[in-house]
Amino acid sequence: MDKLLIKGGRRLEGEVRISGAKNSALPILAATLLSSERVTICNLPHLHDITTMIELLGCMGVQVLIDEKLNIEVNSETMTVFTAPYELVKTMRASILVLGPMLSKYGEATVSFPGGCAIGSRPVDLHLKGLEALGASITVEQGYIKAKSPGRLTGGHVFFDTVTVGGTENIMMAAVLAQGRTIIENAAREPEIVDLALFLNAMGAKVTGMGTDTLVIDGVESLHGCRYSVMPDRIETGTYLVAAAATGGRVVVKDTRPGMLDAVLAKLEEAGANISCGQDWIALDMPGRPKAVSIKTAPYPGFPTDMQAQFIALNTIAEGTGTVIETVFENRLIQVHEMNRMGAEIRVEGNTAIVTGTVQLKGAPVMATDLRASASLVILGLVAAGETLVERIYHIDRGYECIEEKLQLLGAHIKRIAA
Ligand code: UD1
Repeated sequence: MDKLLIKGGRRLEGEVRISGAKNSALPILAATLLSSERVTICNLPHLHDITTMIELLGCMGVQVLIDEKLNIEVNSETMTVFTAPYELVKTMRASILVLGPMLSKYGEATVSFPGGCAIGSRPVDLHLKGLEALGASITVEQGYIKAKSPGRLTGGHVFFDTVTVGGTENIMMAAVLAQGRTIIENAAREPEIVDLALFLNAMGAKVTGMGTDTLVIDGVESLHGCRYSVMPDRIETGTYLVAAAATGGRVVVKDTRPGMLDAVLAKLEEAGANISCGQDWIALDMPGRPKAVSIKTAPYPGFPTDMQAQFIALNTIAEGTGTVIETVFENRLIQVHEMNRMGAEIRVEGNTAIVTGTVQLKGAPVMATDLRASASLVILGLVAAGETLVERIYHIDRGYECIEEKLQLLGAHIKRIAA
């Protein structure tokens, strides 16, 4: 297994380009199953999870052509297998996103129960209830979800009692080919939901209300081909900004969208960073030691759970004490023990991490446990004295394109040690 070796203590300086959003690309790739014509997707990030999704489409008989820029042309009309197997689904929870489109287009879908990051139990009950509200019959047999619909799904009323990003996406994708109108209430408002809705509409779907908590979808009989470019990754953007802030650095993050990072930028300013933005860039300058900030995660437009670990990392070397409350997932503070091994002072009480900043952390061998937690360990490695060896970085490769190369360009001492 590959590892990252980091020599800490260098300020990050320079420019970094942001890749396409993983969490947008995954549902968009799943949604290509809905089209009756070829679809081309651009600005896909080079990531393990994207490869897994492409492999999943391939094993169902979908034709996928990749050009040298990693633009992907998908022809799902060749689909012959309506099962997403355990071997692939267990490595990536987002595989559940093929359930809605497959069922809606072909009237049947069998998908293994998902695996993914070890951040709590993460059920899919809301996805299944939503599909049942559109007329699907669902059974669970030997670890597989079997969904059927005798004819077209029928539009319905779906209310989510918990805001769910994946659930909203699955139901939205199922509803676009259903007969009649579907209304999704308490829908997720994440920018990735908006991106998916825009992609569906580019194929001829009729989705309105994206970005609000009520989505209205009028079903159409078929969807046509299109060319669509995935939006920039807001979590990758935020991660580089926090890494720069932690090192007292000065960076410009390019090819991004500042408007989708309001909650994160506000906290960085509170920590003492000077921030300026253009249409597709964000500049950050951290003039001194950061001040500790307190955070409570919440669905968008609240503070994103996927940025929580990075801000704990920032607080470990900040002035003062910051409290970080995780409300979206259970068991998502697991990286704290590894951070304390590097000299951090973090106490966990239930879903709250109380972080008291220290002046100097010390490098150590640490183990990555989930995607965003891994990124936070890299940030700690960048500020700690001496060497930090981050193991199990396959978690990082699931979500950060060429992380060591991008950080090297910003002046970091970091290298990959191949297993
Ligand atoms: C997506 C993101 C993930 C992000 C999360 C929250 C992708 C590929 N992943 O994950 O990076 O951290 O949104 O912003 O886009 N829940 C249920 N029942 C369900 C579904 C969800 O109880 O059927 C719960 C979950 O356990 C969790 C909460 O709802 O506590 C939110 O989960 P959800 O928004 O569905 O997360 P994902 O879509 O899995």
